[in-house]
Amino acid sequence: MNVDILLARPIHVIAFTIALITVTILYRKLHYKRFIQNAHLPQLPSSLLWGHLKVFDEFTKRGKTDRHPDCVFIDMHRALGEPPIILVDNWPIVPPMVVIPTYEVAEQISKPSKTFPYSAPKANSVDHIRPLMGYKSIFMWQNEEWKAIRRRFNPGFAPQHLMTLLPVIVEKMTPYLKNMDEFVRNGKVFSLDEITTNLTFDIIGVVSINEDMHAQEVDRQGELVRMFKQLIKTFADDKLQFPWWMAPLSHLRRRQMGERISQRLREIVRRDFAEMKAKVRNHKQPDRLRTAVALGLQNVETLTSDVLEETCDQLKTFFFAGHDSTSAVLTWAMYELSHTPHALKSVRDELDTLFGKDGARDPAVLIHRMRYISAVLKEAMRLHPPAGSMRYAPPGSGFVLSTPDGGAYNVDGCWLYLNHDMIQRDRAVFGDSADDFVPERWLSPAADGFPVGAWRAFERGPRNCIGQELANIELRVLVAMLAQRYEFTKVGLGELDLDQQGRPTLDDKGQFKVKSELYNMFKITGKPVDGVMMKVKLAQPTAD
Ligand code: HEM
Ligand SMILES: *[C@@H]1O[C@H](CO)[C@@H](O)[C@H](O)[C@H]1NC(C)=O
Repeated sequence: MNVDILLARPIHVIAFTIALITVTILYRKLHYKRFIQNAHLPQLPSSLLWGHLKVFDEFTKRGKTDRHPDCVFIDMHRALGEPPIILVDNWPIVPPMVVIPTYEVAEQISKPSKTFPYSAPKANSVDHIRPLMGYKSIFMWQNEEWKAIRRRFNPGFAPQHLMTLLPVIVEKMTPYLKNMDEFVRNGKVFSLDEITTNLTFDIIGVVSINEDMHAQEVDRQGELVRMFKQLIKTFADDKLQFPWWMAPLSHLRRRQMGERISQRLREIVRRDFAEMKAKVRNHKQPDRLRTAVALGLQNVETLTSDVLEETCDQLKTFFFAGHDSTSAVLTWAMYELSHTPHALKSVRDELDTLFGKDGARDPAVLIHRMRYISAVLKEAMRLHPPAGSMRYAPPGSGFVLSTPDGGAYNVDGCWLYLNHDMIQRDRAVFGDSADDFVPERWLSPAADGFPVGAWRAFERGPRNCIGQELANIELRVLVAMLAQRYEFTKVGLGELDLDQQGRPTLDDKGQFKVKSELYNMFKITGKPVDGVMMKVKLAQPTAD
């Protein structure tokens, strides 16, 4: 016998024993995490290795594979018999996640509580988009740090202040309508989402830094927009929100691109700050600087590198959050109107009345009188919400969710996903027409009976959307400008199903029949999958 083997034998035994113990410990840990820790939460069958990843994949493949994950959650929820909450365990890609399909439960998470004075903390679910939003973004901060930033920037988004910006907002719509008229002339098919994101980018540019982004100049866009759009594109297919260790190279590239944008923004912030201080020293009113950033810096004495960095990051956040969802909502609203003739007629009637000879002339008054248009937008956001909210119950927080059926579920250690697609189509609230586009529901007396938390496109509670008034103003003005002047026709996905004479036909819900369904996909936020390809012509003046 070889001596080496003799000597090696005890080592083999030890190594084997160690391996066995390690595997056993790991197995027990995994087993606990998969099958014990969250066993009390309603869920589909889980697998030791994959959790719900495989089930999620199976459900994804049952429909359009590029559809928004919310649609997959809806199907999984149905398959389980629609319990008040559902666990989706895709750990270790993301922590175990409790999906919330009902407003009663969502409200417990978005409201301040004893456990969480500023509502349940935001999850770090958007960590991977930090190069885009900034590392010190208001989006990711919690508690007192968050509150200080929110307080600093609230004035820039206050309704009265925004009304003073209305002229510059409307001014940005001139190139937009010019481009639209060009599409009328040349009859080309175009992406309504693309030209609208260009417009909303220009608007957030003036509102936050009073800077012309030149986003709407065909093929000659400003540098900042181009850099931003490039960066956003790198996130386009990020369905599962891969953490950095699953895609280190693209993370590195995104960091570099984010830094380039920061460099440009630092110059702008420094310039505006210096200009403001100079004006204050000379006892002049700072005239051009009533921007969100200037208002956020008005009580700052010295522009330390911390303040500079932090302000840049809020700017990035405003740029991204301020253009993308607003455009998605507008395109959905215009698409719905394009195949809902009675709603389009109501919009036009409202505009005729508002701008008629007895109408008000003050734009602020007009915007507030757009009752039907507001209902159209509210309904578009109910059916096609761009966002949602990912929260977190830290381990040991003892956070318990009460469900309408009398259940009580401890959700410590889980992400809590307030799923707007599910909550806002709740049949218990919106009845059999929950999936239909019915703006009138918001104008009928029954609307008073809708629980407030059942519509939450801007989220609710302290962490709600800071820009919701801006979005509302932009959207109302836009619908008013587009609906009266133009006739949109969807091309490709969601196009009209014409009869033999080439005319659209109505279905039993008063909408034109379509050949296929337009749907949202996940591009950081929910966006219509094809960019909303349209043709446009000038509307015929109505007979009456
Ligand atoms: C129709 C358009 C919009 C929709 C549907 C929307 C929706 C939302 C939602 C659901 C949240 C909560 C997100 C979360 O909990 O993670 C949010 C937060 C936020 N939104 Fe919007 N938003 C819109 C437009 C805007 C605009 C125009 C701005 C302009 C700056 C903006 C800036 C923000 C910011 C900064 C936050 C974070 C607020 C905080 O944490 O205190 N949003 N938005
Ligand atoms: C909008 O932006 C894209 C780039 O993202 C650009 O190619 C296009 O020319 C712009 N179009 C209009 C009409 O503003």
